[in-house]
Amino acid sequence: MSRLVAAAQEVLDGTEGRLTQEERRFLLQGSSMGGARPKANVLHDGRLCLAKLPASGDRFDNARVEMALSDLARSAGIETPRTELISLPDGRGVFLSERFDRVPVPDKHGAFFRKGFLSALTLLGLDERKNPLGSCPAIADAARKAGIDCGRDIFRRMAFNMAIRNTDDHLRNHGFLRGKKEWRLSPAYNLMPAPAVPGVATSFDLSIGVGKMGRKATLENALSESARFGLPKREAEEIFKNVVDNLRSWRSVMARYGVTDSDIEKFSGSFFAR
Ligand SMILES: Nc1ncnc2c1ncn2[C@@H]1O[C@H](COP(=O)(O)OP(=O)(O)OP(=O)(O)O)[C@@H](O)[C@H]1O
Ligand SMILES: [Mg+2]
Repeated sequence: MSRLVAAAQEVLDGTEGRLTQEERRFLLQGSSMGGARPKANVLHDGRLCLAKLPASGDRFDNARVEMALSDLARSAGIETPRTELISLPDGRGVFLSERFDRVPVPDKHGAFFRKGFLSALTLLGLDERKNPLGSCPAIADAARKAGIDCGRDIFRRMAFNMAIRNTDDHLRNHGFLRGKKEWRLSPAYNLMPAPAVPGVATSFDLSIGVGKMGRKATLENALSESARFGLPKREAEEIFKNVVDNLRSWRSVMARYGVTDSDIEKFSGSFFAR
C-alpha cells in the first residue's frame, strides 16, 4: 500500500516517468473512477475495494475523516458500503470502500462481475456543466418515474449532507444500482464535510438544489419540497431531527479513527447543531 501511495504521489508531482509498468497499471485502473484525488482498486482480504489514497498537500487526513463520516452515516440509517481504514507506516490513513458495483465470481479468486451503475447526473439526462440544474427533489421525481421507491432515503441523505456541510454533494455523488430485477438507490459514498470554523460563513449553499429556495442549506428549504420525496412535512422534519441528533457524537467518532485534535477543530463550524 505504501508503494501505491508513493506511486500516486509521483503522478501528482508529474514525475511518473520513474514508475514501473505494474505501478502504472494499478493507478490507471484507479483513475477511471473519476474525482480529483488519487485512487486505486485493491483486493483486500478477498474483497475488491476502492482505495482513496493520501496526497501531499492534503489539508487534513481525508481518509480518517471519511471513515468517521461513513460510520456516522450508517448510524443515521443511511446504507453505506463496507468501509475500512488502513494506517500507513507514516501514520497517514487510506480509506477503503468495498465496491458495491461488483460481485465475486464463484470459485474464481479475484474475479468479479459488474453490476449496472447509473449516476443521478445520467438519470436526469444532464451533463457535467448542467450540474447546478439538478436537485434532490428532481432526483426523487426521476427515481419515482423509473419505478424506484427511494424518496425517503434520498431525503435522509440530503439532510445528512446539509447537516455535515457537504458542499460537494453533486449529481455524480448519488447513484443507482441494477439489482436482479430492478434498479435501486446505491449505498452512499463520498460523504465529506467541508471545513468551517464557527462564525465564519455560517450560511452556505449545497452543490445541488434541495427545495423551493434552491441550494440554500436551511431546514426550512429542506422541508419545502417534502412531498416530492413522498414525505409529509412532519415526517421529513422528524428524519432531519434524527440525522442532526445522531451527529452529536461527531468529535468522538473522528477521534476514534485517529483524526488529530487540530484537524477536528477545522470542522468545529461544519456540523448542524441543535
Ligand atoms: N464503494 C464504492 N463502490 C463502487 N463505486 C464507488 C464506491 N465509492 C465510490 N464509487 C464511485 O467512484 C466515484 C469516485 O468516488 P468518490 O466520489 O468517493 O471520490 P471522489 O469524488 O474522487 O472524491 P474526492 O473528491 O475525495 O477525490 C464515485 O463517483 C462513484 O461512482
Ligand atoms: Mg465523488
